[in-house]
Amino acid sequence: MTTAHNWTPAGWRSHTARQLPSYPDLSAIAAAEAELQSYPPLVFAGEARDLTAALAEVAEGKAFLLQGGDCAESFAEFHPNNIRDTFRVILQMAVVLTFASKLPVVKVGRMAGQFAKPRSGDFEVIDGVSLPSYRGDNVNGIEFTAEARQPDPQRMMRGYMQSAATLNLLRAFSTGGYANLHQVHKWNLDFTGRSLWSSQYQEVADRIGEALDFMAACGISPETVPQLKGTSFFTSHEALLLGYEQAMTRQDSLTGDWFDTSAHMLWIGDRTRFEGSAHLEFLRGVGNPIGLKCGPSLDPDELLRLIDILNPGNTPGRLTLISRFGHDKVEAALPRLIRAVRREGRHVVWSCDPMHGNTIKGASGYKTRPFDRILSEVRGFFAVHRAEGSHPGGIHIEMTGQNVTECTGGAIAITDEGLADRYHTHCDPRLNASQSLELAFLLAEALKDARIGTAAVAA
Ligand code: PEP
Ligand code: CO
Repeated sequence: MTTAHNWTPAGWRSHTARQLPSYPDLSAIAAAEAELQSYPPLVFAGEARDLTAALAEVAEGKAFLLQGGDCAESFAEFHPNNIRDTFRVILQMAVVLTFASKLPVVKVGRMAGQFAKPRSGDFEVIDGVSLPSYRGDNVNGIEFTAEARQPDPQRMMRGYMQSAATLNLLRAFSTGGYANLHQVHKWNLDFTGRSLWSSQYQEVADRIGEALDFMAACGISPETVPQLKGTSFFTSHEALLLGYEQAMTRQDSLTGDWFDTSAHMLWIGDRTRFEGSAHLEFLRGVGNPIGLKCGPSLDPDELLRLIDILNPGNTPGRLTLISRFGHDKVEAALPRLIRAVRREGRHVVWSCDPMHGNTIKGASGYKTRPFDRILSEVRGFFAVHRAEGSHPGGIHIEMTGQNVTECTGGAIAITDEGLADRYHTHCDPRLNASQSLELAFLLAEALKDARIGTAAVAA
């Protein structure tokens, strides 16, 4: 990646920006951004390049992308156990997927920076009272009071500090022993121990344990092969709050390229990816791997134009297209996009977000996502890719390691009435640990089929 043509970190400011907060005090936001700009970067450019290289493998069909975490991280849920539990479920899912597909799994958290949310309206009205919508903890507070809903620049500092501490713990877990493959049994503790899927997981863990014992007898152990000792784990979030993202953008001293050092990977949401948008303008210039949400309103020609803006060099791994159509639309809408991309020879990763097209309001009044619709969108995504002969490269999910009740269904069937029990999300409903693992087993089957299908085509 060389610096994009005619680009500066502040260039987005002269473009149309949707979904940005209106700060009451412009000098306070400018001061906060200036301060943030003097803080240490959270990630290093070389790490972002490593992720691009890993995603290039996904684009070629040689690896699978697993991206997941909170819809919105929050200051209130900031706790080491929450970070550990989400990380642990992602590890479990990755083990299940790797074991079945024999493909390496690239792990990317929606963590350590996922604090800004696009909203359907600028205002929320409750009992005739209208207040600015909640836009994520680094913008304003979720409580329905005029004071909390006022955008506050100082929240970005707290978001930065929480991201730094979260990332620090994730790095420690990844390389400090927790993610050692020999711990594969221990990732199955606490409440998942009671779920239907934990015995399935136990079986996979047993077989991995046997393979590791065999390998150790042959002299291959974490002492001799460091890869067994830890794992690579990357961070990502929606690059929505552009003032924050700009302040975190630095020039790489090795190459002179610009990188948004707030996370390894950044994505553009479905509401801000229109042509001419400030978000597109900002992200086209940073060297990080980029995600682009693709919803029902995106037509193939527009997609091709967006691809050319974001990835003019057609670099594999640079761009991940995250489709989020809904369970009833994916099979009709996705083939046209895949065909256009294929026809023009563009290298992309195709990933499936089965969450954002499947949100409904249940009779209980809670926003929820029926688990069977989530599975159905994933199945549709795999079926389409299989029919088109392209690689279903990844999955993008909202999940948590906690035993929440936010999505209905799953093996331990959560009902609409049961949602109230442990509904903690700050924004959209997440899969809980058990539902996440269940999804991983379904994906594992689909990936195994895809592998067998590819082998059959190749034979
Ligand atoms: C999200 O990923 O939280 C999100 C808002 O998604 P989308 O832009 O696809 O609606
Ligand atoms: Co969401």
